[in-house]
Amino acid sequence: MKIFYILSFIVTLCKAQINMAFCDDYIEYDVNYFGKFISNAKLSNNTDAILAEKRVLIIDDNLNVLSSLPIPKTQTHNCEWIFKQSSDTFFVGCQKNGESPYLIAYKNINQTHYQQFGDIVYFPNLNETVIKVTGILNTLFTIQSKKVTLFTLVISVADWSIKTTQNVLDKNYFARTAEINITDITLAPYISDNLQQYKLIVVEYSLGAFWVDTVVKNNILSPFRNGLIDLKKYFASTRYYSSAVIHSTTYNVSQIVFTLFYNGNYDLSIKAVYVSTSTTNVMDNYLFSSNGWSSWNKPILFGNLQGILRRNTLKQSIFNVYNIQIPVANAQYESNLTATVYDPVDTFTSPPQDFAIYYFNTGYRVVHSIENNKLQSCDLYNYKLQME
Ligand SMILES: *[C@@H]1O[C@H](CO)[C@@H](O)[C@H](O)[C@H]1NC(C)=O
Ligand SMILES: *[C@@H]1O[C@H](CO)[C@@H](O)[C@H](O)[C@H]1NC(C)=O
Ligand SMILES: *[C@@H]1O[C@H](CO)[C@@H](O)[C@H](O)[C@H]1NC(C)=O
Ligand SMILES: *[C@@H]1O[C@H](CO)[C@@H](O)[C@H](O)[C@H]1NC(C)=O
Ligand SMILES: *[C@@H]1O[C@H](CO)[C@@H](O)[C@H](O)[C@H]1NC(C)=O
Ligand SMILES: *[C@@H]1O[C@H](CO)[C@@H](O)[C@H](O)[C@H]1NC(C)=O
Repeated sequence: MKIFYILSFIVTLCKAQINMAFCDDYIEYDVNYFGKFISNAKLSNNTDAILAEKRVLIIDDNLNVLSSLPIPKTQTHNCEWIFKQSSDTFFVGCQKNGESPYLIAYKNINQTHYQQFGDIVYFPNLNETVIKVTGILNTLFTIQSKKVTLFTLVISVADWSIKTTQNVLDKNYFARTAEINITDITLAPYISDNLQQYKLIVVEYSLGAFWVDTVVKNNILSPFRNGLIDLKKYFASTRYYSSAVIHSTTYNVSQIVFTLFYNGNYDLSIKAVYVSTSTTNVMDNYLFSSNGWSSWNKPILFGNLQGILRRNTLKQSIFNVYNIQIPVANAQYESNLTATVYDPVDTFTSPPQDFAIYYFNTGYRVVHSIENNKLQSCDLYNYKLQME
């Protein structure tokens, strides 16, 4: 099996060399100063934040370092999460195994520089392991296998803090009798009755996902109805769901891509129609073929393009980009009984790395990491060729 992987990886690498002509030379960043790259957040159309072990880098779309920031943490804390909260602020989330997670806020000084804002702040009354922390507007989420907890971010001119809320999305909230196993969440905005709302998709390991409608009041998300996207019932063979991304959504229909823990089944795109809180209809329409490596971390999208990162057990990675005309959520169309399988249109590979950076930039370009501390910007050459 391993030999097959290594062989297929060499073949992939050779194939990728054809693409390399359409990549800029990679840039290597000082691993002693920055540490290994972990994750990233888009700050604007032409600036990105790269969270590394020791510092946060602010880079432009040519991968130049505009500035970098220290991360207040002890040797035993890992900072693995980064998210943009507003046009001028982003957060980094850290945790020591099994203990209180906390956030660090960074606010911009000008277009190229940020500085830490306020102190580090712990999530109140939470001394447990989290899978991830994230946030949108003034709502923060901690994701654990048994629950998603919503907190409120309170920001003043000089300081900020985290407040608890009544909103805990657990098995009781979703009216389940058996324990649930949450793997990730994703959100997308929509307007209903002239109100700004967000569809929250809570991915569940074997069921598929729960959906939660939330309404925005005073910049805070407030859940008001929920239901189940029962993919376990829909598909005959067993699938294990890992993460998701919403391509588009309205109040009653969403077009969602799910990535799976690989067990021979492909990642998939579905249409979910929310008939009522007790009935959600599912239609599958597309499957994403792969080389057999498990999809890893979050799927990302750019317009119609779907990006999925995959890794093997040796931590070699392959970033697949698919060109699929996924219809908008409320479009009327027949879904086929046998879903169409799509092959990636562009593919980018890396030798072993502990984490992986991958994001789309304007002009149909991809930035991906190679071996922990190198970044490369590439053209989506085959995509552009197809679209000509
Ligand atoms: C950022 O890019 C998007 C998509 O290309 C565009 O619609 C938007 O206007 C851009 N925003 C700015 C501030 O340039
Ligand atoms: C942005 O702020 C930094 C830090 O204060 C400063 O060194 C830099 O010159 C500023 N850049 C611009 C374009 O103002
Ligand atoms: C969290 O729990 C651990 C034991 O599980 C304990 O040692 C530690 O002091 C607790 N931390 C806080 C901030 O309460
Ligand atoms: C829960 O999900 C994790 C993946 O996040 C998986 O490894 C584990 O086996 C699941 N546990 C159960 C009891 O299904
Ligand atoms: C979704 O809701 C809109 C407005 O309430 C309605 O017109 C439309 O038929 C609904 N779509 C579906 C698929 O139920
Ligand atoms: C259904 O199949 C037809 C013919 O193969 C294809 O043109 C169409 O795009 C498919 N629709 C979906 C939703 O997959």
